[in-house]
Formats: sequence, C-alpha cells, structure tokens
Amino acid sequence: MQSFKGEVTSHYLAESAKLFSSIKEASYEKMFIASGHTVLDLGCGSGIDVITLVDRVGPGGQVVGLDHDIDMLKKGSQNCLDANLMSNYLFVQGSADQLPFKSDLFASCRSERLFMHLSQPDQTLSELLRVTEPSGHIVIVDTDWASLSIDTTLPGTERTLSNYRISHVLKNGYSGRSLYRQFKSLDISNIKIEVIPIYLTDVDLFYFISLQNAIEQQALADRVISEKELSYWRNEMELAAQNGSFYCSVNIVIVSGQKPN
Ligand SMILES: C[S@@+](CC[C@H](N)C(=O)[O-])C[C@H]1O[C@@H](n2cnc3c(N)ncnc32)[C@H](O)[C@@H]1O
Repeated sequence: MQSFKGEVTSHYLAESAKLFSSIKEASYEKMFIASGHTVLDLGCGSGIDVITLVDRVGPGGQVVGLDHDIDMLKKGSQNCLDANLMSNYLFVQGSADQLPFKSDLFASCRSERLFMHLSQPDQTLSELLRVTEPSGHIVIVDTDWASLSIDTTLPGTERTLSNYRISHVLKNGYSGRSLYRQFKSLDISNIKIEVIPIYLTDVDLFYFISLQNAIEQQALADRVISEKELSYWRNEMELAAQNGSFYCSVNIVIVSGQKPN
C-alpha cells in the first residue's frame, strides 16, 4: 500500500474552497492588490485562487500560479478557460523550494495550505521573500492541525490519530503555529496574525475535509492504532452522526507581512 502523505484531488480543492471562502477572501485583502500588479499563488493547485486574483489585478496585471503537480496545473488551465479568463495568468510547474523567478518580481505573494506539505518550509519562505518586491506583501494561510479538537469519550484515540497526522503523515504538521516564528526569523516587516476557527457538526464533511479516513487507515497499517481501538472510535463517530451531536473545531492561521525595503 502506498503511504498516504496528505495528497488531495482537484475535486477536494473545489469542495474545500466553499468552506474556506471567507479565509481566502481575508488572504486576498492582505495582499493589497492594485490594478496592474503581478502576483504569485504558490502551491496553486487547480487554480481556484488564480481565477479570483486575475479579476483583482485587472487586464494590465498578471497572476502566476506555481505547483509541482502537472495534473493540478492542467486542471487549473481548464478552469481558467471555463471561466473565460483573458490571458493574464500563467501556470508554472516547479518546486516551492526553488522558485524559477527572478528576484523582486511580484507585488505580492500568497500560499494556502501548502506549508504543511513542505520538508523545507524556511527555504520556501526565503524564496518567497526573494521573489517579492521591496515593500511587497507575503501572505501564508495554513492549518494549525495541533488545534484539531473532536468531541469524544475516547480522547486517547483522538490524540493518537491527531499526533500521527502531525508527526508521520504531514511533512510539516505544526506549520500553522510556526509561521509567525518563520516570519520573525527572516525580519519580515509589519507582521500581522489572524486566526480563524472553523467548526463542523457534520461528521461526513469532517471526514472529507480532514482526510480522516485515509489518516485512520494509514495509522492502522502502521500499527499506531489497533483494529479494536479503531472500531471503538468508528462506532463512536457513527453514533455521534446518528444523534446529530458530532462536533469538531480547528484553527486556520493567516500570517502576513512586508518585504523590508
Ligand atoms: C492542499 S493543496 C492547496 C491548493 C491551493 N492552494 C488551494 O487552496 O486550493 C496543496 C497544493 O500544494 C502543492 N504542493 C505540495 N508540495 C509542493 C511543493 N514542494 N512545491 C510545489 N507545490 C507543492 C500540491 O500539489 C497541491 O496542489
């Protein structure tokens, strides 16, 4: 069995964008986009944010979306064609570790739900700083997975699964809570933090959005949790679904700042 590392599909991104709409909006505001700007969406996936940003930069601007997954980029191009966008967008295949752009190119850069997947997050933030123009804005959105809290009578199992996600599935599971430290260490100016809590009472939506089923199956395969423990856990989740009493919450962290002059 191939080990699960938190990979998502374009269908997942389209569905999760509905839940993240106000968070996305908050991140765009922090980019201080003006007509004619050239901006970057790093880890752009299927281009959902590229489409909105094209509208914000206007006909004289340009939006660049970078991702390492060619299938996501193909989907992004198709989504832009379907949205009848003009040609002021560009999808680039590349790695977040080494951005294929000249320095000081972008008026602002954003990245959403990428940093949790990075093995070298400091290197990526340095690269973002390099390609942003002086005084330009950098905005990073990520989940603080350690804040995931699920109402359960089995808190030990809940913690085991949560710690497994953070420490063994994601490359940078503590990304949300470490963004501020990362920004400080690079002397980024005017750092602002916004924490937006999400709560869910629909267990199916929780399993879909958090990829919980894949986490549980991988934890079982890695013998982090026994079949018996998982069965108790699943029974409890099913009972909560039947009773309509399921509850969980998690914090989304947005850290933004400006490249010093
Ligand atoms: C959870 S998705 C978020 C996509 C998009 N930001 C959104 O909110 O719809 C994470 C994206 O980061 C990309 N990604 C992960 N690691 C990457 C890396 N090292 N370099 C470039 N892209 C990467 C994945 O291919 C995926 O499209």
